[in-house]
Amino acid sequence: MPEIISVSSGKGGAGTSTLAVNMAMRLQDAHGPTLLVDCDLLMANSHVLLNVRPTADLIDVLEGLCDWRVATQKLPNGMSLLSGRTAANILVESEAERLNDFMDTLKTTAHEFSYIIVDMPAGAGAVVMNAVSVSDHSMVVLLGQATSFVDAYALIKSCYLEKNVTSFYAIVNMVTSAERAKTIFDNFERTVSKLLPIKLIYAGYMPRMPEINSCSVHGRLIDYDVMKGCIFPKIDSILSSLFEKEPLYTVSNPVTLYSDEP
Ligand SMILES: Nc1ncnc2c1ncn2[C@@H]1O[C@H](COP(=O)(O)OP(=O)(O)OP(=O)(O)O)[C@@H](O)[C@H]1O
Ligand SMILES: [Mg+2]
Repeated sequence: MPEIISVSSGKGGAGTSTLAVNMAMRLQDAHGPTLLVDCDLLMANSHVLLNVRPTADLIDVLEGLCDWRVATQKLPNGMSLLSGRTAANILVESEAERLNDFMDTLKTTAHEFSYIIVDMPAGAGAVVMNAVSVSDHSMVVLLGQATSFVDAYALIKSCYLEKNVTSFYAIVNMVTSAERAKTIFDNFERTVSKLLPIKLIYAGYMPRMPEINSCSVHGRLIDYDVMKGCIFPKIDSILSSLFEKEPLYTVSNPVTLYSDEP
């Protein structure tokens, strides 16, 4: 069965999609066949970050219009993407029920994948709680901001109270140093452990990088050398704390996602 890893943050704009996309790429390169599912039902953007134009998406699957394997695209680096839809005209709460069933289907039938990364929307609604509850590993993205602490706490509390989820990994995003990231995590962990019986594990950090922001502003892919030199080592360290083991195999020069196509 594939291992399902959900990436959420509570607060919008914390870097969830950026981290989910990069984790999926590294899992594919160094661990095994990986599917990225964009569960941001209303404002999906993983496909934008990956420069992909989907012909079918998760909403088509949830509405029974096509099989999930038909809606899944294989990208040049070998990873697979089940895109969400941008500006979908749907009722999120009713889709959340269907999504729950769909996640169970993935868990029991997507045998061709070793890993499924789930990119989550902001908030702590039914979609987020359902997907977190079926995940093998739940990751929460934190920023060094009071609003991020409050929203991440609300997400963790809802998942605990509604779905009895008792363990989360935390990634600190957009920080200036490793020390600062650890301080942010320690402060958050102290607050959470005072109030809830939750095991919060530090999984690592991603520095604030102007290259990441500028690529998303201009809608282009991050330069591969920047990815290889600066982003992937941090993602690898996050993944190894998640699995507490070395990669099963390593592709030294993975096929990149880059092509000249717009
Ligand atoms: N480590 C980073 N350094 C600099 N900018 C970053 C970093 N991580 C994310 N960003 C930027 O922050 C913005 C939000 O990122 P992203 O879309 O990944 O967040 P999100 O949590 O998925 O947002 P949403 O709530 O819209 O789903 C983007 O402009 C992105 O480029
Ligand atoms: Mg997002």
